[in-house]
Amino acid sequence: TPPAVPPGKLAIECWAISYPQTVNCTWSLAADVHLDMEFIATYRHGMWAKRGETECVQPEAGANSCTISDIQLFSITPYILNITAVNPLGTATSLFPFIVEHIIRPDPPEDLQVSAIPSESKKLLLEWKPPGSWPLPEYFPLKYLIRYTRQGAGSPRTIGPYEQTSFILTGLRPGAIYHVQVAAKDLTDYGEYSAWSPQASGTPWKRR
Ligand SMILES: *[C@@H]1O[C@H](CO)[C@@H](O)[C@H](O)[C@H]1NC(C)=O
Ligand SMILES: *[C@@H]1O[C@H](CO)[C@@H](O)[C@H](O)[C@H]1NC(C)=O
Repeated sequence: TPPAVPPGKLAIECWAISYPQTVNCTWSLAADVHLDMEFIATYRHGMWAKRGETECVQPEAGANSCTISDIQLFSITPYILNITAVNPLGTATSLFPFIVEHIIRPDPPEDLQVSAIPSESKKLLLEWKPPGSWPLPEYFPLKYLIRYTRQGAGSPRTIGPYEQTSFILTGLRPGAIYHVQVAAKDLTDYGEYSAWSPQASGTPWKRR
């Protein structure tokens, strides 16, 4: 078995997938450490925050994730996450500074449907829903990119962004199969696009 070693540096990621309600953070050890490991997860808002360290809440002891709620929006002062790994041989602290608006990244849109439109042999109707983890789409709207490809054709085409949750693709080849995905981003352009949604497929209407 490999030698037991004290904890090393952690690879930390934080994303505001449920902006403006929470920031979710996860971390992993750079090297395998073959000893029981505990993590102390805290954060500060600014280096000299009066409140000092606040707990970043872990779902259970030893978990490698935590959630920050009670976020101050549009603050230019960074938050600093402090994950301190503890095992019987020692401790190691890793810090992760972030500005909430810079780490907004929604989950992918959900329930993508691709439907034929009666009598329209070159069109497809696309409909989808905002990600369920995005709590307030009325107040913090999203914009969407659409990526589609004709089966058997070359590279996909990406169009958008669009603010609505439906779209009609036009100029398609009658009878061909099209594969579609959508991705979401905060409308005000903070943060990053989500991953692409699972693919949905459809064929334009065909006269019989
Ligand atoms: C983010 O945190 C919330 C609140 O703890 C939790 O319900 C949700 O499952 C977390 N999401 C991820 C992707 O970890
Ligand atoms: C990080 O957290 C540990 C454990 O709570 C604490 O001892 C340490 O002082 C903190 N470090 C910084 C830079 O905040």
